[in-house]
Amino acid sequence: MIITIANQKGGVGKTTTVVNLATALASIDKKVLVIDMDPQYNSSMSIGVYNPKLSIYRVFSNEVKINQAIQKSQIPNLDVISACEDLAAAEYELADDENRNYLLKGHINSVINDYDYIFIDTPPTLGLLTISSLVASDEILIPVQCEFFALEGLSKLIKTIDAVKTNLNSNLKLNGIVLTMYDRRNSLSSLIEKEAREYFEAKVYKFNVPRNVRLSEAPSHGLPAIIYDLKCSGSQAYIALAKEFLERSMDQIGK
Ligand SMILES: Nc1ncnc2c1ncn2[C@@H]1O[C@H](COP(=O)(O)OP(=O)(O)OP(=O)(O)O)[C@@H](O)[C@H]1O
Ligand SMILES: [Mg+2]
Repeated sequence: MIITIANQKGGVGKTTTVVNLATALASIDKKVLVIDMDPQYNSSMSIGVYNPKLSIYRVFSNEVKINQAIQKSQIPNLDVISACEDLAAAEYELADDENRNYLLKGHINSVINDYDYIFIDTPPTLGLLTISSLVASDEILIPVQCEFFALEGLSKLIKTIDAVKTNLNSNLKLNGIVLTMYDRRNSLSSLIEKEAREYFEAKVYKFNVPRNVRLSEAPSHGLPAIIYDLKCSGSQAYIALAKEFLERSMDQIGK
């Protein structure tokens, strides 16, 4: 199953969610691949795997095949295709290419069967890199930061998902919405939660990810928080989230 993590709003926890959900699933013996589609390459760095010569951009420019671009991380069962700064150029280099929206889908097919889950991290835009990730995916997972304006951009994102469904990938489903950086002491967090749950109902994950400084420290060590500090509240939240994620994907298979 291929899942894109997207939200065009910056800094909402996309990368943190990709890295820790992927690690949690790898630790229970699922085979997991993370594809970093963000030219900021934060998820590559957070997992400690970064090699611009093997980045997904080199796959798009046909310098390497996708299976050659896969790098093993130090975490068993967790592989990565890294990004690099040059990936930003793909947006305009391919602007006139009529197949540009199928950029990733064309390559990803040959590795699908090697993994239980492929997570795609995207940049904070709704440009080509995010759209082509959605076109290649079965599902989208949206992290929403519990802050003022958090829900404002969501309607545009939902419209974009609908447009992708109508025109490019009719299979795309909304996996769910994860509330991140939740602060129990802040009434704004509970207000955002209330609004999100009222509007998106069961699509919102039961578990919120709390604001937790350990989650923000971990990337500087090149380690997912779950490996850096398993006991911290952030890691425990991502483990709970991974369980819920599995339940949701079972439901999908059952349907
Ligand atoms: N639950 C959390 N508690 C505390 N800090 C967090 C939490 N989640 C993420 N952070 C930190 O907040 C910042 C933004 O998170 P992250 O990089 O995951 O967001 P993003 O949506 O991927 O950002 P971008 O849009 O730039 O790609 C990072 O410094 C990260 O370490
Ligand atoms: Mg990111």
